[in-house]
Amino acid sequence: MTRATGPSPVVELFIDGVRTRAAAGQTIAALLIALDAHAWGRVPEAESRRARCGIGTCNDCVVTVDGVPRVKACLMPVQQGMQILTRRKVS
Ligand code: FES
Repeated sequence: MTRATGPSPVVELFIDGVRTRAAAGQTIAALLIALDAHAWGRVPEAESRRARCGIGTCNDCVVTVDGVPRVKACLMPVQQGMQILTRRKVS
């Protein structure tokens, strides 16, 4: 039996205010890496934020999604209209 395959549905969303498109179902971390953002945001006392474990255990990939802070980018699939903030102010 052959499964019908085709292009993945595309969603539009915003990363730090910039409109972008992504394949529905991919994670925010996968999208950021595909966009060549291998590190996103910084915290004053630590290294750059990025996907490290990729399985939801290290907390190093957190972003803000639709105003909700500390969302794990490696676990959250992109959705239509999502507002993702990757940067934290460093004082
Ligand atoms: S990369 Fe470790 S929790 Fe997301």
